[in-house]
Amino acid sequence: MNNRDIIRRLETEHDLSREEAVFLLNTLGDKDEKLLADAARKTALDQFGNKIYIRGLIEISSYCKNDCYYCGIRRSNRNAVRYRLSEEQILSCCEQGYALGFRTFVLQGGEDGYFTDDRVCAIVRAIKARYPDCAVTLSLGERGEQSFRRLYEAGADRYLLRHETADRTHYEKLHPPQMRFDNRMENLRLLKSIGFQTGAGFMVGSPYQTTENLADDLLFIKAFQPQMCGIGPFVPHKDTDYRDCPHGSLRMTLILLSVIRLMNPNILLPATTALGTIDKNGRELGILHGANVVMPNLSPQEHRADYSLYDNKISTGEEAAESVALLAEKLKAIGYEIAVGRGDYQDNTN
Ligand code: 5AD
Repeated sequence: MNNRDIIRRLETEHDLSREEAVFLLNTLGDKDEKLLADAARKTALDQFGNKIYIRGLIEISSYCKNDCYYCGIRRSNRNAVRYRLSEEQILSCCEQGYALGFRTFVLQGGEDGYFTDDRVCAIVRAIKARYPDCAVTLSLGERGEQSFRRLYEAGADRYLLRHETADRTHYEKLHPPQMRFDNRMENLRLLKSIGFQTGAGFMVGSPYQTTENLADDLLFIKAFQPQMCGIGPFVPHKDTDYRDCPHGSLRMTLILLSVIRLMNPNILLPATTALGTIDKNGRELGILHGANVVMPNLSPQEHRADYSLYDNKISTGEEAAESVALLAEKLKAIGYEIAVGRGDYQDNTN
């Protein structure tokens, strides 16, 4: 086995075995890393040109009934400041976002019982009525089939639910027993079968993660074929047991972005906030390694610091939606432009 051949096969056949994945991730040298990144960037350019899709992220609630061991807004974190946005606040975020050029709004939050199906459906309908040319993406955790169906019927277009890790044993190390690996995967399958453009994804460098786990994440994405895959480095949060764990590496995250791009040429692949948090050029580097989406923060300024999934989450600087002009400039400097429109997934497999 050698990495040159593996990269060549990724480029031409978009495929990778588990053994090849483990070998590549364990042994990739600097020279071949460059080869991999160039191939991934070229593949993204072939698929999307030099256009980067933007999504306006609205963090609607920092309440969560779950207790994921890694997450700063886990239920048992007494230090977390909790807030939820009203429908009016959410609509006002959309109004500002629309004026800035956003045509996708992502409503993300913890699993908060306040946001019943009735409430979320009303919000989705209100957004779609005001902005019929926009896509609405939800990212509100595991809600089950009936809920997903109602949200879809209300007009939601997309749903993001990271699988977090494709390995059951690893999943059980990161989550309390109430959170079931099988439920997670079943919820993902439901979303796709109902018709949502579905996003899965995982953390890079999360506690106990092995190279084999990452290989399984890659194979899961290839098999499940989500329309989007969100990956970012694990970043420790001071109020969790993982406070002293190291953050996931920039290099490994970039390598994985490139491999995902090559395995899934037309997948929507964001350069995430977590990537921008561990390196000030993280998002640009992500794009140069095959990412094609960024999700600036549209949440009200006064609540941004409280949606604290991990320490030092960037929330007042260039990642923010107000800075679209700055983002455009930074993209231009590396040869890219912000795309106009909703930026739907294009199925070009046949
Ligand atoms: N570091 C990085 N990502 C995290 N997330 C939650 N906690 C952390 C952390 N400490 C990610 C999870 C979740 C998404 C909303 O944020 O992958 O799905």
